[in-house]
Amino acid sequence: MLFVPGDSESKIAKSEQVAPDAIILDLEDAVAPANKARARGTVRDYLLATRGRRTRAVYVRINPLATEQALGDLAAVMQGAPDGIVQPKAGSPAEVRKLGYYLDAYETQFGIQPGSTRILPVATESPEAMFALGAYAQVGPRLAALTWGAEDLSAAIGAITNKGGHGEWSAPYMLARSLCLFAASAARVGAIDTLYADFRDSAGLAASAGRARRDGFAGKIAIHPAQVEVINQAFTPSADELAHARRVVGAFVDNPGAGTLSLDGSMLDMPHLIQAQKIIALAARS
Ligand code: COA
Ligand code: MG
Repeated sequence: MLFVPGDSESKIAKSEQVAPDAIILDLEDAVAPANKARARGTVRDYLLATRGRRTRAVYVRINPLATEQALGDLAAVMQGAPDGIVQPKAGSPAEVRKLGYYLDAYETQFGIQPGSTRILPVATESPEAMFALGAYAQVGPRLAALTWGAEDLSAAIGAITNKGGHGEWSAPYMLARSLCLFAASAARVGAIDTLYADFRDSAGLAASAGRARRDGFAGKIAIHPAQVEVINQAFTPSADELAHARRVVGAFVDNPGAGTLSLDGSMLDMPHLIQAQKIIALAARS
């Protein structure tokens, strides 16, 4: 999912040259206060111009629900029927449900299929939010996925940095990352890994995206067009992976009724079968 500042017509146009699953037009922290009003208009116009004929999902990151800008953002952009809303600094599933009620009203007003506007909460941006991650299933079908962020969280708790000496997340942020993963899984939605800020370091990004996929994330945020292909590649099963997954499934098909099997000297049981089926499904989608 590629973030694009909502006040930049040129970046919105540039985003057409790459193929993310979704773009996120930002009205929050990538837009300076003086440009917020103009960004709303730019995002609204883009949504109206593309409504009903989009080749990829278009999400909008509004300002946090606790600010006075949030409703103005929704009032402006909902007429363009965005595919989803990114909710920054989401404090709890209850707060996400509240956004859902607003969407109910705007969908009725603007002739949008009720319930079709999805929500992607940024679910770890405050200390309070960390203790509310267990109940995101309560949000219901609007919940698109969960993502996490380390920058606002570290600012909120007064950290000097959120990175260790080798550039890796320090322990508090690894916890936020892990809890996002578990929270999303418990809510039966995907987890989207946070951004990799150093956008010229494609090797570092590939490694970070690889770790995210290894751990169970379904995708990753991009902030620069050059990051999109690297991330897409990292989340596409390799030919070897796919071949192995097919052999695992084949081994179970060939041995109906077997709960456990051996393949190449390794033990296989149900979790391996499920994992192999997921890889085949992921490859079919990409
Ligand atoms: N989406 C679309 N186009 C983008 C882009 C983005 N996120 N980031 C950069 N581009 C465009 C640039 O405008 C430039 O276009 P041009 O060739 O027509 O001039 C081209 O891609 C190359 O950009 P580059 O010069 O390498 O980077 P930059 O210095 O212009 O921009 C950032 C760097 C970080 C300011 C920019 O990538 C950006 O705005 N990222 C998104 C930030 C954001 O939304 N943050 C909120 C979530 S944390
Ligand atoms: Mg933020």
